[in-house]
Amino acid sequence: MEKVLAIGLEGIAVAKTSLSLVDGINGLLVYRGHWARDLAVHHTFEEVAYLMWFGKLPTSEELTVFQTSLANERALPEHVTQIIDATPLDRDMMSVLRTAVSALGCTSQSWPPTIQQVIGVTARIPTIIAHRQARIEGKAPVGPRRDLGHTANYLYMLKGDVPKAAHVRALDAYLILTQEHGMNASTFAGRVVASTQSDIYSALTASIGALKGPLHGGAPSEVTEMIEAIGTKENAESWIRNKLEKGDRLMGFGHRIYKTIDPRATALQKVASQLSADDPWFDLATHVEKVGMELLAEYKPNRKLHTNVEFFAAAVMRAVGLDDQLFTPTFALSRTVGWCAHIMEQAENNRIIRPESEYSGKMPD
Ligand code: ACO
Repeated sequence: MEKVLAIGLEGIAVAKTSLSLVDGINGLLVYRGHWARDLAVHHTFEEVAYLMWFGKLPTSEELTVFQTSLANERALPEHVTQIIDATPLDRDMMSVLRTAVSALGCTSQSWPPTIQQVIGVTARIPTIIAHRQARIEGKAPVGPRRDLGHTANYLYMLKGDVPKAAHVRALDAYLILTQEHGMNASTFAGRVVASTQSDIYSALTASIGALKGPLHGGAPSEVTEMIEAIGTKENAESWIRNKLEKGDRLMGFGHRIYKTIDPRATALQKVASQLSADDPWFDLATHVEKVGMELLAEYKPNRKLHTNVEFFAAAVMRAVGLDDQLFTPTFALSRTVGWCAHIMEQAENNRIIRPESEYSGKMPD
């Protein structure tokens, strides 16, 4: 068979999936036959996670059982809290999350992945993040509450108070819109590990490592840094021009698949604008988005670069009171749903993922 060289695997499909359709030309995102944007408005994190893992939205009885099973699994094993606490405080949150998820995986059950493992790890990731955040802030960690939903409980553990309903709704919308997104780098990394019949914790550890990079999930905190650095509307054009003249990238713009506006960005922009109507930061961010798109069209006319999900993710997370260092871990919290769904799908019809490389070195004399 003739080898195809596809650097970055652009345009190559490596699996069939029933989980999501990402249509980058028309700007469409479908989760198992439903528009993601509608799910984000009309459903909760748990309902959409159920859809991703079981293939249909739950009945109210199924939802109650499912919510209870997630709520019952939130506490961390003692050895995991010890590992988190032993990690020096100057280590970034994604590295701590990667290490803690790896440490969750010391069980005898390794293959195939089970729904109990999926529920357990998804339930515990918010607790890992909140525990670490409390240590960073020098406070006692706030334990999980079983009577709160997944998103409300996350905000509760981070802040110590039951969150406002509007904040829960806004963050829920973000978490739903980022649960799943086709064969992105972190999902691919997880599926590669799962395809070797390794355990789900190893696969998720690989996914978290991939998401951490600034070209993937590490962008939203860099979006807020960019907005802070620009500082005023008057400064936006010269700041962005200077960046593009140097060949630097604007964070929160561009996407491998979307060649039109990212539908998640459109949905999140609405959510953020409802929460931040009077916030000068949001006003500046909206201006930066407009100038960024205009200048990208001028400097990269053939590239079709638009705002991606990370741009307004930063605005939503900031509006609900999350610090910058929580942005990418919160993205990991939601994407765990999609990663787990892909790992289970890979296991159902497994073939080891093993591409090839093209040798460009010398031959022996
Ligand atoms: N700012 C400036 N130029 C850009 C940007 C950007 N944000 N994105 C792409 N380009 C330019 C590149 O410089 C390149 O130009 P050239 O051909 O003249 O050299 C061209 O567009 C194509 O770039 P590639 O890197 O080949 O595009 P790719 O599809 O591989 O990159 C990526 C996609 C990594 C997301 C890119 O757009 C980027 O780096 N964006 C900024 C980081 C970011 O926002 N990441 C979050 C993505 S969303 C997510 O992962 C959840």
